[in-house]
Amino acid sequence: MSTQSQQNPNSQDIEAPSQEAIQEFYNGMRPFWHPVLWEDALPEGKLVRVELLGIGVVLARLNGKVTALRDLCRHFQTRLSLGEILDIDGEDTVMCPYHGWAYGNDGMCKRIPQMLEGRKIPPSARVDSYHVTTGYGLIWVCMGDEPTFNLPDYPEYGNDEFRTVSMKEDEISRTSSTRMIMGTLDDTHFPWVHEGILGTRDCPAAPDHKVWREDQYLVLQYDVEQPPGLATTDMSVEGAEDKGNISIRYTDYVGMPNVIRLVKETDSGRYTVWLATCPNAYNKTTNFWSFSRNYDMGSERDRTYEEFGAHVRSQDKPIIESQRPWLIPPFWSQLEQPLGPSDKPLMEFQKWLEELGIVTRI
Ligand code: FES
Ligand SMILES: [Fe+2]
Repeated sequence: MSTQSQQNPNSQDIEAPSQEAIQEFYNGMRPFWHPVLWEDALPEGKLVRVELLGIGVVLARLNGKVTALRDLCRHFQTRLSLGEILDIDGEDTVMCPYHGWAYGNDGMCKRIPQMLEGRKIPPSARVDSYHVTTGYGLIWVCMGDEPTFNLPDYPEYGNDEFRTVSMKEDEISRTSSTRMIMGTLDDTHFPWVHEGILGTRDCPAAPDHKVWREDQYLVLQYDVEQPPGLATTDMSVEGAEDKGNISIRYTDYVGMPNVIRLVKETDSGRYTVWLATCPNAYNKTTNFWSFSRNYDMGSERDRTYEEFGAHVRSQDKPIIESQRPWLIPPFWSQLEQPLGPSDKPLMEFQKWLEELGIVTRI
């Protein structure tokens, strides 16, 4: 005899993903650029530890170049990030605090103080070093052999026609980066989670979505109306509050698999929300946000926009952090029940993640 609860896939214990699911998520995410730290958080002469895909990474500026090494000394597995930068014959190295082994930016050990005179440092005395680049105020690391895609575009950033504020979220989010991107791409939650700001509950219908792939992007486009607010119109203009609903064209670009740029076009101009997520682990994500606008350009207004972004973010956070399993489950598991056509963009995102080998198991 089967009962209702036996038939419902949701009745399974889904709190902890399997080790295989976690490992495949990490393997699938390795060949992409991931943002790990704001550039200005890595001063010259300092070592900073970050976590990416469950692995500790030490960042440093060596010989003027940002370097990312595995934060684990080859000798006795001490954290290199507890050490210091050491100049060896004009070359900067990262020196382990325990016995002074020092590594160059290629991860090779350049000095072993205890080595007997005349002996050579063995080539096995090395730590993993990772690809590093910078962009949009951030340091990005790729742990694969070669990055699959370029850094996604953010044309408003550094553009004089726009003002951009970046939001430094101190707290790590208790979710996966793929859940975080999916939650930002999702628009049918607007009237429920952001009522009065991004929608109203008397209009719960999903917009008519167009969704397609373009190079490394999943693109979503739709038209909606939203109440007047900082992300829809110039609120510094007198009477803006009483304008009534504002017509908006949204175009969302997901830079697969971990970055999203939401572009809102209105009569007032353009407002862009940009989110780059760092998958610290399967259940820990660091979010790097920037918001760009080409209206209400006074710098004294930046703080207001930052607070607005933080407020919307605080509404989403408990919802996204509550989702289980931590990792998006594959379609075949039927653990979730997406609804067509309103959830089509989310299904397309998930489909692509499955093709990239990022979503495979529960
Ligand atoms: S553990 Fe790093 S030098 Fe010994
Ligand atoms: Fe939201």
